[in-house]
Amino acid sequence: MTDARLELRNICRRFGGREVVSDLSLKVMPGQVTCLLGPSGCGKSTTLRIIAGVDMQDAGEIYVDGNLVCDTVFRVPPEQRSIGLMFQDFALFPHLSVQENVGFGLKVHKSDKANRVDDLLDKVGLKHFKDKYPHELSGGEQQRVALARALAPKPSIMLMDEPFSGLDDRLKDDIRDSTLDLLKEEGTAVLLVTHEPHEAMRMADEIALMRDGRIVQQGAPYNIYNAPVDRKAAAFFSDVNVIRGTVEGALVSTPFGEFLCPGRPDGTEVEIVIRPQHLRIDFDRDGRGPHPTPQDGTPARGVVQRARFMGRESLVEFRMDFDNSILRATVPSVFLPKPGTPMWLMLRRERCFVFPVPSKV
Ligand SMILES: Nc1ncnc2c1ncn2[C@@H]1O[C@H](COP(=O)(O)OP(=O)(O)OP(=O)(O)O)[C@@H](O)[C@H]1O
Ligand SMILES: [Mg+2]
Repeated sequence: MTDARLELRNICRRFGGREVVSDLSLKVMPGQVTCLLGPSGCGKSTTLRIIAGVDMQDAGEIYVDGNLVCDTVFRVPPEQRSIGLMFQDFALFPHLSVQENVGFGLKVHKSDKANRVDDLLDKVGLKHFKDKYPHELSGGEQQRVALARALAPKPSIMLMDEPFSGLDDRLKDDIRDSTLDLLKEEGTAVLLVTHEPHEAMRMADEIALMRDGRIVQQGAPYNIYNAPVDRKAAAFFSDVNVIRGTVEGALVSTPFGEFLCPGRPDGTEVEIVIRPQHLRIDFDRDGRGPHPTPQDGTPARGVVQRARFMGRESLVEFRMDFDNSILRATVPSVFLPKPGTPMWLMLRRERCFVFPVPSKV
C-alpha cells in the first residue's frame, strides 16, 4: 500500500535505442508540489507525457491513489486518470470567452458549472474579465485562465510543464505565488516540470533533481541546496568554486588548510566545492592575511581580476597566488574592490562539500 497520490515505479522510455527515461521512480504526495528539475533534454517532458497518457513507457508502472493506471499492458485512458494538464503553450480556445474556456471540459449540471467557473475566476482574480476573449488578455491573464480551466474538473493531480516560461520575468514570481496559493487551496497534488532552480525552490515542497533520464537526488529544497549529492548537483543551483586535492590519512591538504575526508582511501582525488557566497574575504596587510580559524581554515592570497556590481551583491573574481586559478566570491554590493588589489580568501568550512572526482567516461 502507498499513501502517495501519484507513484511512478521503474519507468523506462527509449527512443530509437536511446534510453531517455531510465528506471525512474517517484512519489507525489497529496497537497504537495513536487518539482522535476533538470537541464534541457534530461527527459522531464517525456516523463510527464507518459503520466498524462499521451506517450507510453517501455517498462514500469504508474499508480494513482494506489491503483494501477498504466503498465506496459494495461492502460486507463488519459481522460479517466483525473489528471489536469498545463503545458507551456497553454493554448486557450480563441473563439470562446474566458468563462467558456474555463467551463469547457466541465461535465456537470449547468448551474454547478456556472458556480464552479465563477468561483475559480474569482480565485484567479479575473471575475470581471469573464466575457472577454483570449486576445483581449495579457500573457499573465491568459495563464491564469488556463490554470482555472485545468483546475475546473477538480483533478486530483496537476501536471505542469514549464507553465510560466512564456511570461515576463517581473510577472513570474507573482504568478508563481498566486498559482501556488490556488493549488494549495484546491488540495491538488502537483508535479511541476522546470529547468529553473529558482522556480523549483520557490514552488516545491519536494524537488526531484533529474539528469540523463534519472533522478539523482530528491528532497526538500533546503536539503537539495545544502547537501547536494555531487558537484553537478551543487552547480545546478549556483556558480561553484572547485579546489582539487588528494586524500592522505583521511585528510586532504589544500592552500586553505586541511579538510576531513573520512572513509576515503589514500590517493583518492577529491574536489572541495563551495558556492561564491560562502567565501570570506579580508584585506591584505603588508603581505599578511588574517589568522587561521577553525571555522574558516587558513587564508590564501589572491588578486582581484574584476569586480562586477550586481545590485544586491557584487561578484569578485580573484586570481589565486597558489596556482593562478580563478575563484569567485560574492560580497555585499557596497564593496567593489579595484582590479589588482591583493586580498585574502577563506572557505567557510561548514559550507564546503567534499566529493570524489568523478571518473571520466
Ligand atoms: N518522440 C520522440 N522521438 C524521439 N526522441 C524524442 C522524442 N521525444 C523526446 N525525445 C528526446 O528525448 C530527450 C528528452 O526529451 P524531453 O522533451 O523529455 O526533455 P526535457 O527534459 O523536457 O527538456 P526541455 O527542458 O528542453 O523541455 C531529448 O533528447 C529529445 O530529443
Ligand atoms: Mg520539456
